[in-house]
This record gives sequence, structure tokens and C-alpha cells, in this order.
Amino acid sequence: MTKLKIRKYGEPILRKKTNIIPEVNEDIKRFVCDMLETMYAYSGVGLAASQVGVLVRLCVIDVSQDQKSPIFMINPKIISGRDRVFAIEGCLSLPGFYENVKRLDKVIAEYTNIEGKKKEIRAEGILAKVIQHEVDHLDAKIFIDYLPEWKRKTIEKEIKRKKKMDMW
Ligand code: NI
Repeated sequence: MTKLKIRKYGEPILRKKTNIIPEVNEDIKRFVCDMLETMYAYSGVGLAASQVGVLVRLCVIDVSQDQKSPIFMINPKIISGRDRVFAIEGCLSLPGFYENVKRLDKVIAEYTNIEGKKKEIRAEGILAKVIQHEVDHLDAKIFIDYLPEWKRKTIEKEIKRKKKMDMW
């Protein structure tokens, strides 16, 4: 397995649309393993393929305490949801920034698993939030897009400052 490079906010690839995966082949399986290793290495709870520079609709998620319950979602799609609530969110592409984001507390999503089988998941709480966050990445959306403009501008300014100091 290989640890992959995580793309940070500001890199154009994070704003590109991802492509449907037509079939789960060996390359995809290998890539999923690398993504999982990368996510665990950075203590993340979710990672989308575009965050490591690959434009395919795929994400890995693990919200368990011991990081032993990964979910591999190929071509994930949220089909329904309810109860919007605020919760603190962060992102491996935006290290150091945590903000309150309003999202659905319960969702039903469908996806293809690593064996190529169609699956449906009913999620709530953190898992529901992470699924929405990762599917957003696959649609070129980042969680700070939900913030008021002044707040987003403040974060972007801070990132610019970090870039100048070679800290981004
Ligand atoms: Ni993220």
C-alpha cells in the first residue's frame, strides 16, 4: 500500500467533477486500499478520490473509534434525507479549520461496494454527515462553501497567509 498526497484547498483539482466508475477492477481495489491507508495516516474519518488527485466517484469512510470498520463507497448517491442540524466539520484538504455546517442528520444512500455489489445504507449522526461531505467532494464542493461569505473570505485570507509562509 502507498500513502497518497492529499490535495489542499486552493488546488484546482478539488473543483473538478468526478467520473462514474463503470466497473470495480483490480486497479480500483488497489487504489481504495491506498486511500484507506492515507485516510488513517492522517486520522481522517472520510476521504474522497479527488482529494488525492483522482477524478473518479469513490470515497472511503470510517467513523469508528478503532478505525477498523471502513466503508468503501463507489459511485455513492444520496437518495433521501431529513432533519437538518448543525455540527462541527473539518476536512483533510483544509487542515486546521473547523466550522459549523448545517446538514441532514439522517440519510439513505446507495453505492457499489468493493465486490461490485449494489448497496444501500441508512446512516445518521456523524456517519450521515461524513457521507454528505464526501459526496460533496465528488461534486467539486467543499464544506466551507456552506459558510457565510465573510467567513469564507476570512479563511481564504488565512490560507493565503499560510501559503506565503510556506505552511500550506
Ligand atoms: Ni473533506
